[in-house]
Amino acid sequence: MAWSDSFFWDGRSPTLEDQIRGPVESPNEMNISMDEVVERLSKVNGYQEMFQRVFPGAGITGDGIMKAIATYERTLVSGTAPFDRWVMGDEQAISESAKRGFEFFNNGAGCSECHTGWNFSDNKFYDIGLSSADEGRITVTGNAADKHAFKTPGLRNIQQRAPYMHDGSMKTLDEVIIHYIAGGTPRPSRSDKMIVRPMTPQQITDLRSFLESLTGEDQPVSLPILPY
Ligand code: HEC
Repeated sequence: MAWSDSFFWDGRSPTLEDQIRGPVESPNEMNISMDEVVERLSKVNGYQEMFQRVFPGAGITGDGIMKAIATYERTLVSGTAPFDRWVMGDEQAISESAKRGFEFFNNGAGCSECHTGWNFSDNKFYDIGLSSADEGRITVTGNAADKHAFKTPGLRNIQQRAPYMHDGSMKTLDEVIIHYIAGGTPRPSRSDKMIVRPMTPQQITDLRSFLESLTGEDQPVSLPILPY
């Protein structure tokens, strides 16, 4: 996420800092006001000292909490994947099927028209023809063309992130690929990149093998000693 320029599936937050208020205040998530978070943390001496050290004069504030969490989030970067080792020249790093899958991803399956670059996202918004009550990006921009549009997600570690799509409506990568064969629900807002794309069973397997080769080595994260 550190390289992204908009956050949430509909891109309504311009920065990671701003995004943090969402899950904290959402009734479905932490359901607590930022003021109350400040109040609770202020009761912990250790936090008071640490915030004073990092934000001299300001101490514990909502702004400081959002900066601190966003700064931590920027350190969570997916590790080197077999696909990366192959790109760096190790022919043995991924299977022949995954190599064919990468070729098909770029030429034939149309995936790289949106999932581009080393992170496999163009950071743009599209209606890919899913049926869900959420109208997506249009609630942010008001543009009719943004109806049902959501941000292209990056595909690193995709194997570890089921269920898929903004509404978690697909349980497996095969289900996702089959969605792209049919191209989704035709409607005025659907991206013109979404067309019927016939695939053989072998091509489906190859695409899945490629997607699975994007799983990076886990980065060790040590648990902090919490202040008291
Ligand atoms: C028109 C642009 C576009 C094209 C072409 C496209 N995608 Fe996507 N992809 C998206 C968007 C946008 C989403 C998120 C949609 C949503 O949740 O409403 C998505 C979601 C996904 C997801 C789920 C990611 C997650 O975190 O849940 C996978 C996997 C995926 N695409 C793989 C592919 C593959 C494989 C292809 C080629 C067969 C492909 N995409 C073609 C734009 C595209």
